[in-house]
Amino acid sequence: MSEVYKKFLIPPPKIAPSILSADFRKLGEEVKKVEKAGADMLHFDIMDGHFVPNISFGPMVVKALRSEVSIPFLVHLMVEDPEKFLEQTIDAGADIVLFHVEASPHSWRILESIKKRGVKAGIALNPATPLSTVKYMLHELDMILLMTVSPGFGGQKFIPRMLGKISDLRKLLTMKKLMLDVAIDGGVTFENIEEIIEAGANVIIAGTGIFGQADIEEATMKLKKIANEKYARIISSQV
Ligand code: DX5
Ligand code: ZN
Repeated sequence: MSEVYKKFLIPPPKIAPSILSADFRKLGEEVKKVEKAGADMLHFDIMDGHFVPNISFGPMVVKALRSEVSIPFLVHLMVEDPEKFLEQTIDAGADIVLFHVEASPHSWRILESIKKRGVKAGIALNPATPLSTVKYMLHELDMILLMTVSPGFGGQKFIPRMLGKISDLRKLLTMKKLMLDVAIDGGVTFENIEEIIEAGANVIIAGTGIFGQADIEEATMKLKKIANEKYARIISSQV
């Protein structure tokens, strides 16, 4: 039995396809497909070419897709000075805004600005960033995202050592009686999703694992099924 599940404080799994790996010629169609297949939310990576060595898209794309589907939008700001982009991102239709703790010395201020606008707020940590950087913010957050690859590109390999970080975080949250969403981002496959759930993550962001597959609906359903079954097995083994 997984140690981190002891107090049933882990919310059920949610699958969040990351559009970074989608076919941008037909984004509208692709996001409709994953919603129909049961995706719980949609993940957007806004990259500025400074915080990460890549440029993706801006809030305009979030806005363009808002009318296409109704699942919540999880917007990951992979940018320096995230404060500059908050208004546009929220106006574009983000339901949850995630910014990086490494991106600004003013995480607390950013968090307050997001919450003031009535949307949910989360914080993201790069692989080498210790959990202690967010320890005093935990009660204020709706989600914590752990990068499980170096940020900036889709299609990279999951860093196995991040499994320990996920379970350390879940233990910390359980100790504080906080039932928070723990998202992981990068390198999810059909093969490793079970151990990711076992470690205590529950929001599973997948780019290549969904949009890089021949049948994106089938891939969404398959990841969701594996995650739900694993979660149910762990919970029932504790009753
Ligand atoms: C990586 C991005 C991810 C990316 C994940 O820097 O933050 O959201 O889309 O892609 P995969 O699932 O292909 O690793
Ligand atoms: Zn992301």
